[in-house]
Amino acid sequence: MSYNLLKGKKGIIFGALNDQSLAWKIAEKAHDEGGEFILTNTPLALRMGELDALSKKCNAPVIPSDATSVSDLENLIRKTMEHFGGKIDFILHSIGMSMNVRKKRTYDDLDYDFYQKTVDISAMSLHKVLQVARKQDAINEWGSVVALSYIAAQRTLYRYNDMADAKAMLESIARSFGYIYGRDKKVRINTVSQSPTLTTAGKGVRGMENLIDFTERMSPLGNADASECADYVVTLFSDLTRKVTMQNLFHDGGFSSMGMSYNAMYVYNKSLDGCLDCDD
Ligand SMILES: NC(=O)c1ccc[n+]([C@@H]2O[C@H](COP(=O)([O-])OP(=O)(O)OC[C@H]3O[C@@H](n4cnc5c(N)ncnc54)[C@H](O)[C@@H]3O)[C@@H](O)[C@H]2O)c1
Repeated sequence: MSYNLLKGKKGIIFGALNDQSLAWKIAEKAHDEGGEFILTNTPLALRMGELDALSKKCNAPVIPSDATSVSDLENLIRKTMEHFGGKIDFILHSIGMSMNVRKKRTYDDLDYDFYQKTVDISAMSLHKVLQVARKQDAINEWGSVVALSYIAAQRTLYRYNDMADAKAMLESIARSFGYIYGRDKKVRINTVSQSPTLTTAGKGVRGMENLIDFTERMSPLGNADASECADYVVTLFSDLTRKVTMQNLFHDGGFSSMGMSYNAMYVYNKSLDGCLDCDD
């Protein structure tokens, strides 16, 4: 069902790679709700070719940009404003990547070049997007920027590795920039801390299926899926949430407030044989 929540609103969506991506679902939902937007991803991601289908479906032009490159972002935001003939109203930052995770480097054996890339791609890129947008005065008053985060920013979840540090920084950037952008231009900035979800990035974390089973058992409402994430993010782009800013908003079926649930304890009791794989 559509409520026209984004009718007349224009934006940029970073990070749709394929139809499993959280950004893909958010783009579809934003389109259903009447929003217009530019899609963007790295030239490498675009070469995979899947974004064309989303672009056609949502009537959304694609402009390539690497979110770690300030000149790419300047070009993206300038071209976006040319395309729409003015400022925009929403930006989705749905970007994450860790070579340490990909290469199975443990947290006590990180490659530091990889670590810097993790932070640059997954956290500092939000600052770059905001700084470029601010300098070009690209976002209308009461506009909304949302970045996707994960509870490993607050709590240790083994194997999430250096991405936990990047998420903590991402959430901090949302607060620090949220003050300045809110004070000067009434632009709001929030992070949404989403349940684990089987996307390309999600599948990169070893043991993801088991983690999803665990969080499903722990959460009174069950895990939030990608389409539910899209529903939530669209409300944050809408005018219904104009005074929400500088927040990390858990979208996780209640997981973040749980200590132990009956369902998780039930499985734990059945397997008290000890920890078999405590390598990290
Ligand atoms: N999947 C999960 O379990 C989960 C849970 C919570 C939060 N998140 C976050 O959601 C966001 C989206 O991830 P996803 O799960 O949809 O996976 P995904 O792999 O579909 O999306 C990650 C995106 O980041 C893009 N990207 C990587 N490097 C980039 C760069 N330099 N510039 C621009 N884009 C770049 C990729 O091309 C890809 O489109 C990430 O921030 C991720 O950490 C995911």
